Amino acid sequence: MQDTVILAIESSCDDTSAAVIRNGLLCSNVIASQQVHAEYGGVVPELASRAHQQNIVPVVDTALKKAGVPRESISAVAFTRGPGLLGSLLVGTSFAKGLALSLSVPLVEVNHLQGHIMAHFLEPSEEYRQSVPALQGVTLRHPEYPFLCLLVSGGNSQIVRVDDFDRMTILGQTIDDAAGEAFDKCAKVLGLPYPGGPWVDKLAGQGDPSRYTLAKPNIPGLDYSFSGLKTSFLYTIRDLMRERQAESVEQLAELIPNLREDLCAALQTTVTDILLAKLKKAAKQTGITQLAVAGGVSANSGLRAAMLELGRQQHWDIFIPPFSFTTDNAAMIAQAGYCKFLKGDFCPVDAAPYAKTRI
Ligand code: KG4
Repeated sequence: MQDTVILAIESSCDDTSAAVIRNGLLCSNVIASQQVHAEYGGVVPELASRAHQQNIVPVVDTALKKAGVPRESISAVAFTRGPGLLGSLLVGTSFAKGLALSLSVPLVEVNHLQGHIMAHFLEPSEEYRQSVPALQGVTLRHPEYPFLCLLVSGGNSQIVRVDDFDRMTILGQTIDDAAGEAFDKCAKVLGLPYPGGPWVDKLAGQGDPSRYTLAKPNIPGLDYSFSGLKTSFLYTIRDLMRERQAESVEQLAELIPNLREDLCAALQTTVTDILLAKLKKAAKQTGITQLAVAGGVSANSGLRAAMLELGRQQHWDIFIPPFSFTTDNAAMIAQAGYCKFLKGDFCPVDAAPYAKTRI
């Protein structure tokens, strides 16, 4: 029988990625992260599109080579259609269309957010496992439908009910900023590099979360809000600066030992508390006790530990993806694309990318 080979392309923000899944097993996942944005403290859309254009050919080529797959054996090309930066998405979308047309194979469109959730079903091939030290000897557990997924990234914070790979319902979502954005913006105030989330995580590990108290939102239902937390973080620093007569955060950090560490610890604990309070509420409301986390912020060590603790306390089943599948990658797009391909769910060649969230 002929192999089913899915080549997937992800270019929704500032990572150019390509991956190959053969007969359901992940064979390669190549990611070129763009360093160009660091000096601007955030992603610059124009620069991101340009970098995608430079990266896409070598990234796809490397993914195929690593998987040991010739172009002619590709069964379908999957691509991230949205949500994301339109200029970035256009690069991946156009490339995917061109390749699919030239090979006369179907195109499969994937929603980036569904991709993050489908990362929970990735099963690496033995060869791929050997190439990623963190995956060696690790058994990946996959949730069963239905499950709840806390989807937390730089642009989204949602609780999603997942009934199947193509049946997902948003139960709650942020009404303003995303959790990752709160991490990144607060980190910027502290003078930490972009993206700030991993820095906050690192410093929080050396800090005391009880030294500063940050405001938690009071939002009805299962929705989130993080803009008030950002303001509370900013005001805490402003008040400390007034009190100590410091003119900058740097000066304040010289006056207060462990300032950055303690503020990061407070921030991380508060974000985690906010996220998990609503997830717990959703589990109680739906009676669904398989809980997963996905998206870039799911790399956060405080959130991971608190989710596991919640599972222990409530006797719920918790699913946390390996680090390499948490931030943007094409492996998750390939997984979603593979499921859609098997169902014959193809998309027309004139499918345009979309910027806004829809799931
Ligand atoms: O999913 P992702 O790679 O990109 C999208 O937004 O789609 O998520 C990126 C976000 C950034 O806000 C980054 O700061 C955050 O994930 N992040 C973290 C950690 N690693 C990445 N936030 C907290 N702790 C981390 N360890």
